Amino acid sequence: MTSTTFAESDKIKVLERIGNTPIIELKSYSTDKVKIFAKLEWYNPFGSVKDRAAYWMIKDAEEKKILKKDKSIIIEPTSGNTGIALTGIASYLGYKVEIVIPEKVSEETKNILRKLGATLHETSDDLCPRVGAGTDQSIALAYAISKPRPEIYYMPNQYENESNYLSHYQSTGPEIWEQTQGKVTHFFTGCGTGGTNTGTGTYLKEKNKNVKVIAIQAQKNHLLQGLRNFEESAKPDLFIRREKIVDEWYTATNQKSFEMVKSLAKREDILVGPSSGSVMASMLDYIDNYDEGVFVGIFADDGRKFQSLYLEQNLFSEEEYRKYLTSCKFLPPLSY
Ligand SMILES: Cc1ncc(COP(=O)(O)O)c(C=O)c1O
Repeated sequence: MTSTTFAESDKIKVLERIGNTPIIELKSYSTDKVKIFAKLEWYNPFGSVKDRAAYWMIKDAEEKKILKKDKSIIIEPTSGNTGIALTGIASYLGYKVEIVIPEKVSEETKNILRKLGATLHETSDDLCPRVGAGTDQSIALAYAISKPRPEIYYMPNQYENESNYLSHYQSTGPEIWEQTQGKVTHFFTGCGTGGTNTGTGTYLKEKNKNVKVIAIQAQKNHLLQGLRNFEESAKPDLFIRREKIVDEWYTATNQKSFEMVKSLAKREDILVGPSSGSVMASMLDYIDNYDEGVFVGIFADDGRKFQSLYLEQNLFSEEEYRKYLTSCKFLPPLSY
């Protein structure tokens, strides 16, 4: 067997594992009539909801013959998870990846990216003009690097790329519908590009127009990696195209999100990332107004990338964090 055939079979195995993530009931928060479910997106092979968008965007560029094996460089502005997904997937498919990333993203995330083989360009106010907060600077820098060299660089641009939306319309939405046997009444997700929200929300509303879609943004000046505040930084084009899908908005605070990370570890034995804490906080606030319903939230990534943040914020002591790493359920082996 040649190394090429080995890589081919390996590639199929890993890429086949994108999607079909488990959904679990959070029983300590559910009641007889109010059922709360979390869709555990960290079961994707590269650890987050963004595997879906990354895979769909790469497949689309391959179909359009934009990407050339062993020649093209994929460059993308991202707060981490899209970068991890793109780099992981691209490493199986023969493309190099450069990631433009805000420097405040956790060191663990940056280390994973480096380990997977990405070249990182970190943005700071010194490095490039401030056209907006956080990831907006990254977008400007990624354009500046890629635009003059279109024969080498390909920027999927998750903030505009329709394949990001389609990945959720074609996978996350149908999965939730089937996993709840069509009983879902409310869908909650944090918003970065809006791909998860609009893709999943559109599919679920097509199945049942009464499903409510709740979009979660972060507070200003936040620590909730993956989310945005839409006053602080512009709403992406991808989101603007279908933002009417959103029935209600919720703004997650750092404090409430972190409290929920802690509460989920204690009550449900799951170690989640900050944005899952935001989703949980918004679900619990909404549920106060309902006597019944099936509430489904996207838990975008787990807590294994956030040790430094969680210790810094005094969420857990080092000992507690280590204990949760071994005692928590639903932490599959990592692919990196
Ligand atoms: C942890 C986390 N939560 C939520 C999201 C939001 O996903 P989307 O870009 O589909 O809005 C992201 C996106 O990067 C993320 O990394």
